[in-house]
Amino acid sequence: MKRIIRTLGAALLLALPVAAYEGSDQGFRTAEAGLNEQEMAGAELWYKATAGTSRFTTYVFQQRMGVLIDWFRVLRADQRDDRFQVWGLMNDPGCCVPGSKDCPAKSLEETYGFDFCPGDEQLLKHVGKTGYRDPGCDFKDPGGLGDRQDPCDLEFGTSTGALGFRKFPNPRFDPDKWRKVNKDYGGQLGTWNGYRERKASAPGSTMMVSHLADPSIEPPFLIGMACGACHIAFNPVKPPQDPNHPKWENLKLLIGNQYLRSSEIMASGMPPDSPEWQLFSHERPGSVDTSAIPNDLVHNPGTMNAIISFASRPSHFQEKVAKWREVESCPPGDDTCWCEPGKPGKCRKWSSQDEEIRHILKGGEDSVGAAEAIQRVYFNIGSCSEECWLNHLTDLRQLDPAQRNFGQTPFDIGQCRRDCPGFRAIEDRLGLIEKFFLASKPADLWQARGLEDAGDLVEQLEAEYGQGAVTRGKRVFVENCARCHSSQPNPPENTDFLALNADGHRVNWMGNDEVLEVSEVGTYRCRSLHQNHMQGHVWEQYGSETYRNRNAVANITDKADGGRGYYRNISLINAWAHAPFLHNNAIGPEICGKPSSCEDDQGLEKCLYRSPNVKIAKQGGQTTYTKTNPKNDDCVPFDPSVEARYKLYQASMDELLNPDKRQDKVSLLDQDIRIDFGLRTFRGHDLKGFKLSVPAGMPAGRLVSLDFKPFVGDMVLAKTDRAELERRLAQRLGSQEAVREHIKWLNSIRRRIVVKALFTQKLRLDPKDAQVLFDVYDTCTADVENAGHPFGGSLSAEEKSALTAFLATL
Ligand code: HEC
Ligand code: HEC
Repeated sequence: MKRIIRTLGAALLLALPVAAYEGSDQGFRTAEAGLNEQEMAGAELWYKATAGTSRFTTYVFQQRMGVLIDWFRVLRADQRDDRFQVWGLMNDPGCCVPGSKDCPAKSLEETYGFDFCPGDEQLLKHVGKTGYRDPGCDFKDPGGLGDRQDPCDLEFGTSTGALGFRKFPNPRFDPDKWRKVNKDYGGQLGTWNGYRERKASAPGSTMMVSHLADPSIEPPFLIGMACGACHIAFNPVKPPQDPNHPKWENLKLLIGNQYLRSSEIMASGMPPDSPEWQLFSHERPGSVDTSAIPNDLVHNPGTMNAIISFASRPSHFQEKVAKWREVESCPPGDDTCWCEPGKPGKCRKWSSQDEEIRHILKGGEDSVGAAEAIQRVYFNIGSCSEECWLNHLTDLRQLDPAQRNFGQTPFDIGQCRRDCPGFRAIEDRLGLIEKFFLASKPADLWQARGLEDAGDLVEQLEAEYGQGAVTRGKRVFVENCARCHSSQPNPPENTDFLALNADGHRVNWMGNDEVLEVSEVGTYRCRSLHQNHMQGHVWEQYGSETYRNRNAVANITDKADGGRGYYRNISLINAWAHAPFLHNNAIGPEICGKPSSCEDDQGLEKCLYRSPNVKIAKQGGQTTYTKTNPKNDDCVPFDPSVEARYKLYQASMDELLNPDKRQDKVSLLDQDIRIDFGLRTFRGHDLKGFKLSVPAGMPAGRLVSLDFKPFVGDMVLAKTDRAELERRLAQRLGSQEAVREHIKWLNSIRRRIVVKALFTQKLRLDPKDAQVLFDVYDTCTADVENAGHPFGGSLSAEEKSALTAFLATL
C-alpha cells in the first residue's frame, strides 16, 4: 500500500508542469525538465535543428544516389497510430491528425496529408510560395558565447508529427500539377498516392517507376532530420500508457530509439528486390548502418545507444590530434589559418597536438574531440551535403579507377566552415549540445518502479533472486566484469557503484571506454571494420593519428589495416533499460512492431520483421543457412512498459551469459537480388543492362559487404592482363593454388555471363558461386550476428543469476 501511495504521489508531482507546453513546440522542456538555460538550448537544437539536412533527404539522396524515400508512406497522418508499430517512430505529442477533436486543421487537404503541428499556421501558408521565415530565426542564444552565425541557418522548420523529422514548405510546389499527378486518387492535395505509386514506365514496359524518381514534380514539403530523429525515445522511468500516443513526460531525448527502423525509412521508396532496399533493410530495430550513405562497403549497423551519464564517461585518452583550434588572429598568407569575414577575432588554425579526448562511436573512431564528433554527425545525416561532402563519397556505379568518385576522398573541415552556413550555425553552438550531453542522468529501475530508493529495489530483487543475491552478484561482477566495465580501475568488492559525485553524477561510468581487439571480444566484427575514419577516407579529419596508429588486429581473416577492428565496451549503467544487447542489438529476443495490418493500400509490406534465427551447416567448403522459423513469428512485440523492459533485460542477460545456448542469428536475403552491371568494356559484348542476381537465402550482410569493384576489375583482367591479375590475387589470396583456382572460377563466371548476355541478359549465381564471390571480395566475412562476448559463460547458474540481479540495480 505504501508503495502505491508513493507511486501515485510521484506521478501527480510529475504531472504538474506538463500542461504548460502541451500542444506547443516547447514540449521538450517537459521531457528534459530540470536543465539550466544553456543545457535546455542544447536540447532544443537536438530536437529541432536540421541545418540543411532537408535538401539531402528530399533531393540529393534521391537524385545523386538514386535511393528513393517515400515520405508519405512513413509520415501520412491517416496512419499515425501505426507509425510507431511499423517504423518505430515516436509520435510528437504536440501534433494532431487533421479533423480529430481540437485539432486546428480540419481536413487532410489543409496539411497535404500530414499531421498538423505547432507552427503550421505559418508554414502551410508558404507551401508553393517563397518568404517563409524559419522558426530557427527565433532561437535565443544564451548570452556570452560571442558572435555567432545567424540562427536562421539552424533550419528548424516544424515537426512532421514524428519526433526529429522536420518539414519545410517547398516554394516550388505546384498545386495544379499535384492534383494532376493524384488524379486517380480523387485529384486531391491531401494525398501523395499518385506521386508515389509505381507504374509501368511506358505501355507494355516491365520497368516500374514512380514520380518519386521524377524531379519535375515537386512535393509540398522538404523533409529533414534533426538529431532527435534517431535518439529520442520513451523514458524508461515514465513509459507511456499507449506507445502510439506518448506525452512529452514519457519521452527522453538522449536515450536512443531502440525501436526505430531508420534504414527502412531511408529506403522506403525502393522496391524490395532492389540492392538498395536490401542494403538498408536488414538491420535490427534500433540500429542503423551509419556508413551506408557515406558508404564504406562494410555491412556495419550499430545501435543508437543511450548517450548516458556523459559527465562520468572517461575523457582522458591522451592522443595525437590534428584539428582546427581557436586562435585570436591569423598571419597573412597562412592557409592553415582562417578568420571569418566580418567577425573580428573569430579565427581558427589547423595544428597537430597531443590532447585529452573522448572515444566516441562503437570503435572509438571519432577521436578528435566531443564537439567535432557531434558536428560530424550533422554531415553524416545530410547537412552541407552539396557544399562539403557529396563529392568525397564513393559512387558505387563508377567502375573506372581513373575517374572521379571511384573511391572516397577526405572531407575538408576548413573548406566546409567557409562554404556552408549550416556548418557555422551548428559549430557556433556545439558547446550547448555538449552541455546538454553532460547533464544527462540515468533512469534507474528503482525510480521506474516508483520505489523510494535503490535499497528498496535490492529488497525486491532479493525477493526474486534469493537472499543476498545482489551482494553476491556484485562480487561476481568485480571478479569477472569490472576489468572492462568499470571506470574506476580494480574496484574493491565493497565499492558503491551507484555513488554520486558532488554534481549529482555517477562516479563510476560502468565502462572503462578502452577499446578491445574484436578478436578478443569475438562479437560480430563488421561494425569494428568501419573504415570511414581511416587515412584517405571521408572522415579522416575526425580520427586522431593515435587512432590510425593502433595495431592491426590479429587473428581475423578480414583485411584490417590498423586503426579499425576494435570495440569499446558499453556502459552498464541502466543495462536493465537497454536490452537487447551489444553494438548491434543481436543478443536477446528479437523485437518487432505489430501494426494494424501487414500491408498498406499499395500492397507494400508493413510488418518488416524477418526472423534471423538459423541453423548453420558446413559441408565441403559450402555453408548453408536454414531458417528455424520460416513463419517469422518469433519476435517479442515492442513494449516500453517497465515490466516488459525488465523481462527483455532478463532474457537478454540469460542469452549473454550462456553463449552455448544461443541460437545462431544470420539475417538472410529473402529475395534474389539483382545487381545491374552496365559494363561496356567487355570485349565486344554489350553488357549494358546486364543483371547479375544473388540468390535468396544467402546472408544479407555478406552481400552488403561485397566490394564488387575489384571483382569487376579482376574479371576484366582475366581477359586482358593475366600477369597483373595474378599479382593482385596473390595479395588477396596468398597461395598460388588459391590464385589458380580463383582464376578458373573467374573465367567460368565470365563465360557464363557472356553466354547469358547474348540470350537472357541475366545470370543468377548459384549459392556456391555466391559464396566464392563473397569469400574473396567481402570487406567483412563474419556471418553470425550474436556471437562472442564469452565473458561470464563459465560461471555457475547461481552466479549468473546473482550477476543478473546486481546489474539490474545499475
Ligand atoms: C539516422 C539515425 C541517427 C541520427 C539522425 C543521429 N544519430 Fe547519433 N547515432 C546513431 C547511431 C546508429 C549511433 C551509433 C554509431 C556507431 O555505430 O558507433 C549514434 C551515435 C551517436 C553518438 C555517439 C554515442 C557514443 O556513445 O559514442 C553521438 C554523440 C551522436 N550519435 C550524436 C548525434 C548527433 C549530434 C546527431 C544529429 C546531428 C545524431 N546523432 C543524429 C544514429 C543517429
Ligand atoms: C575484456 C573486456 C570485457 C569483459 C571482461 C566483459 N565485457 Fe561486457 N562488453 C565488452 C565489450 C567490448 C562489449 C561491447 C561488444 C559489442 O558490442 O560487440 C561489451 C558489452 C556488454 C554488454 C552489452 C551492453 C549493452 O547495453 O548492449 C553487457 C550487458 C555486458 N558487456 C556485460 C558483461 C558482464 C556481465 C561481464 C562479466 C561477466 C562482462 N560484460 C565482461 C567487454 C567486456
